[in-house]
Amino acid sequence: MRSLLFVPADSEKKLAKGLGSGADALIIDLEDSVALANKEAARRMAAEFITSAKGGPALYVRVNDLASGLTDDDLAAVIGAGPAGIMLPKSNSGEDVARLAVRLRVHEAEAGIADGTTRIIPIVTETPAGVLAAGSYAGTSSRLAGLTWGAEDLSAEIGAASTRDEDGRYTDVFRFARVSTILAACAAEVAPIDTVFPNFRDEAAFLRDTREGARDGFTGRMAIHPAQVPVINEVFTPSVEATAEARAVVEAFAAAGNPGVVAIDGKMYDRPHLKRAERLLARAKAAGDR
Ligand code: COA
Ligand code: MG
Repeated sequence: MRSLLFVPADSEKKLAKGLGSGADALIIDLEDSVALANKEAARRMAAEFITSAKGGPALYVRVNDLASGLTDDDLAAVIGAGPAGIMLPKSNSGEDVARLAVRLRVHEAEAGIADGTTRIIPIVTETPAGVLAAGSYAGTSSRLAGLTWGAEDLSAEIGAASTRDEDGRYTDVFRFARVSTILAACAAEVAPIDTVFPNFRDEAAFLRDTREGARDGFTGRMAIHPAQVPVINEVFTPSVEATAEARAVVEAFAAAGNPGVVAIDGKMYDRPHLKRAERLLARAKAAGDR
């Protein structure tokens, strides 16, 4: 998944608009973008939308966090509709994913859905404890589909005045959270997904920031506005040149009987190059599959 567009679950207009946005996934939000008084209506709207919108983008639901007391009601309302997955905010460690997985198992059984169907993407840096435990997600659940991060809630938690400096660069705490997410996702062998970019009218800054994410290892990004979706899809779709180069590397290894190292046009390629080429081809294939 390259692009994951947030859509507040209590907005019929945005839900409908999200379907035509070109996003690989929609994250139907029951958490921060929905007021407490609207949670019940939002749950109902989310379930109806998921039931009626099958066959388009992958549909994830962001539930309220495990400490909110709202998570089980969120799950009870939506799991029967069969979302592709759940986004878990304010995850404190891999243990929270394991706890969510147990609850999903119960809700899936109640809804007559096969055990393990619903995937999980946790937001792993919204609490200080979460940032420090980023390494704890590997092996927690076969449901794990990716890891993502958030800067806004973390800044509120630690009392930081802002997340970026005067030049628009993240300050150290947020750089650390960002890098921890990339490493944690790769350690858990799932997709590292970059966070939202709140200033949705600044297209140049968004493009720059998204390219930096792709350069550093993210394979997709969350969006808050439909205008951000085509930018994300473009940046995270491997280029024709990169795909051709990766194919040449894979073919050269295969043709040579899969050795440790090969030479192509006077350049050395060894196993890490092969791994990188295979990963790129997998992403190119996924991008072409939709
Ligand atoms: N999903 C689907 N449609 C969206 C959308 C989204 N996330 N954000 C905006 N739109 C729609 C608007 O409804 C509007 O539709 P219209 O042309 O039919 O009137 C159109 O896109 C243009 O929107 P625009 O006027 O540029 O923005 P806005 O002021 O209506 O909305 C936000 C700005 C930030 C409130 C809105 O983008 C939003 O709700 N984003 C998601 C917020 C969220 O989920 N946050 C939680 C995660 S951080
Ligand atoms: Mg939040």
